[in-house]
Amino acid sequence: MPDVVRTLLMYVGLAIAALVVLRVAMNINVVALVAVPTIATAVIGVALKDTVARFFAGLRLGKMLKVGDWIATLDREGMVTDIAMQHVTLLTREQDVVILPNDSVIQAGLVNYSRPTSVHVCETFVRAPVRSPPQQVCAVLERAAAAVEGVVADPPPAAYVASFDESGLLYRLRFSIADYARRPEIESTVRGYVWNAMLRNRIDIPFPQRVVHSAAPASAPADREIAPPQLVARLGAVDLFSALTQVQLETLAEDGAVREYLPGEPVVRLGEPGEELFVILDGTAEVKVHEEGLTSVVATLESGQFFGEMSLLTGAPRTATVVARTPLRVLAIGKAALARLVEEDGKLLEVISGVVAKRQAETAAARERLSREGTTVTRQQQSLIERIQAYLWGARRS
Ligand code: CMP
Repeated sequence: MPDVVRTLLMYVGLAIAALVVLRVAMNINVVALVAVPTIATAVIGVALKDTVARFFAGLRLGKMLKVGDWIATLDREGMVTDIAMQHVTLLTREQDVVILPNDSVIQAGLVNYSRPTSVHVCETFVRAPVRSPPQQVCAVLERAAAAVEGVVADPPPAAYVASFDESGLLYRLRFSIADYARRPEIESTVRGYVWNAMLRNRIDIPFPQRVVHSAAPASAPADREIAPPQLVARLGAVDLFSALTQVQLETLAEDGAVREYLPGEPVVRLGEPGEELFVILDGTAEVKVHEEGLTSVVATLESGQFFGEMSLLTGAPRTATVVARTPLRVLAIGKAALARLVEEDGKLLEVISGVVAKRQAETAAARERLSREGTTVTRQQQSLIERIQAYLWGARRS
């Protein structure tokens, strides 16, 4: 029972007790005198009970919520658009306006997705075959989620094996978002990126069909596949391979693997080992270098251009991170296939090494620039710290 109502009832009780005392001890007939106002007070008290309760509940809600917060309460989820004396108003994802009495909200409890921080952890589940190593699957899932715009970097996405069942292993992928309003959209994008990453890494998404023992690797849907003759024609148009014969191009198309990446997904990462060269079939990629915590885009590569040759040819770690800027389709060519081509076509190595030398120089220059900028920023920060320290404690220290 709300405090106000309890207090009101207490007063009415005291008044009746006083009347009984006056009547018995002093024989004064005061009933008529006070009956009317007492009854009126009681009636008004009962009538205002809900209003008063809502008013006080509204005061408490005002401390817990702000307009613009996303909350869930009373089986509803929405953005708070108004906190009034009697009601709190929500705008749901379906664009419905929901008005909820303040006291009902307080009694039912609420989840505030916007406070104390706007970071919210989302979860999605995905199955992978038993034969796929969990470590690999977890890494693929985490990388896929991390590449999605709207997924925050801190805390980073984390994947876990949730359970074993007859269809495979069930994975739980957790990732954080900072804009709760975009939750369904970001969750859907993450699932799309996961689907794409699993396809690319030849990890099937098994369904409970009892055909899970099929050893065939995951393959792209028909409308996403490039027919072999088409692929050969595309490779023939790539500058690097313009001197290859039809047979050589066909072998290359057979040996290579077509992979697809979504915007923001890295194809190769700075510092990682790599044994593949990539020819861009469709889309655009950005080559980025990092130094001193700073990042610079050193090149934008288009359809027909290639990357990943430096590690493949020298065995050194990747010299840059290459990220899909648009939906990207590449042909990945392994060491053995390239070695065969180089053996057959002596000019190929010359062309590639010419490109490598030019790129190495550009990348080294970009890293040096970043390093200088990083040093300047550090120096500026250091001098700022010194100035602040001198201002705060200068007198005490001297
Ligand atoms: P690799 O070092 O194997 O992996 C990163 C790739 O980025 C690298 O091979 C090159 O293919 C590419 N790359 C590095 N620097 C440049 C550059 N300056 N211009 C274009 N591509 C580059």
